Amino acid sequence: MKKIGIIIPAGGSGSRMATSEAVRDAPKQFRLLSGRPVLARTIEAFRRVMPDAEIVVALPADRFDEWAGLCIEYDVPPHKICEGGATRFLSVLGALGELDPACEYIAVHDAARPLVSEELIVRAIETARKHGSAIPVVPLVDSVRRIRESASYPEDRTTLRAVQTPQVFRSDILRTGYERAAGDDFGDDATVVESVGYTVMLCEGERRNIKITEPEDMAIAEALL
Ligand code: CTP
Ligand code: MG
Repeated sequence: MKKIGIIIPAGGSGSRMATSEAVRDAPKQFRLLSGRPVLARTIEAFRRVMPDAEIVVALPADRFDEWAGLCIEYDVPPHKICEGGATRFLSVLGALGELDPACEYIAVHDAARPLVSEELIVRAIETARKHGSAIPVVPLVDSVRRIRESASYPEDRTTLRAVQTPQVFRSDILRTGYERAAGDDFGDDATVVESVGYTVMLCEGERRNIKITEPEDMAIAEALL
């Protein structure tokens, strides 16, 4: 089996969860979801599929001690940590520097998606093994409109997909993308590698793989668990 590395960007501040100082006390990835920190659940999802894979987690620079305390309290499976950056791009870039260069494939998965299933992790890896990359996507359920100046226009929903993680790449593709990309403002890893000329392969995502983003998402995630 080829060596796979896992990067979990968890360096964000969760500003869209920000309802009060409670959020500054604990960013969403540290909040308890049915009794366990969100990030612990995310790490565990990958450990179940790949007990021996290297996992690197990028954390906010000022929260290493807090996370170390949670790891002891909740008996979180082993992983490496590194300092996150000001953007998701910079957090992943930092984690790439820590990851064993011998990894042939790298999966990048948002800390804020703790509900990812084993099936999706396996499907993304298998797709990347065949095609060099794999980006899970799901159809949209709402109608969508494009806003332009003061007007809005309907878009054909059936031609659009919502993009999730884990996004899996042959490691040379991901590393080249992160080495050569201009700027540090990318929403995900697919757009990083595309910006330097690669194309990406889609695979089927899953609706329950939500990204905890706004306060009600915690309740939705608890219900799904
Ligand atoms: N992330 C990161 N480093 C950053 C920003 C984001 O590692 N500087 C991580 C987040 O911790 C999260 C993932 O990237 O696991 C997806 O980002 P998002 O859901 O946008 O989280 P936040 O940026 O923390 O939230 P918000 O945008 O609401 O502030
Ligand atoms: Mg963000």
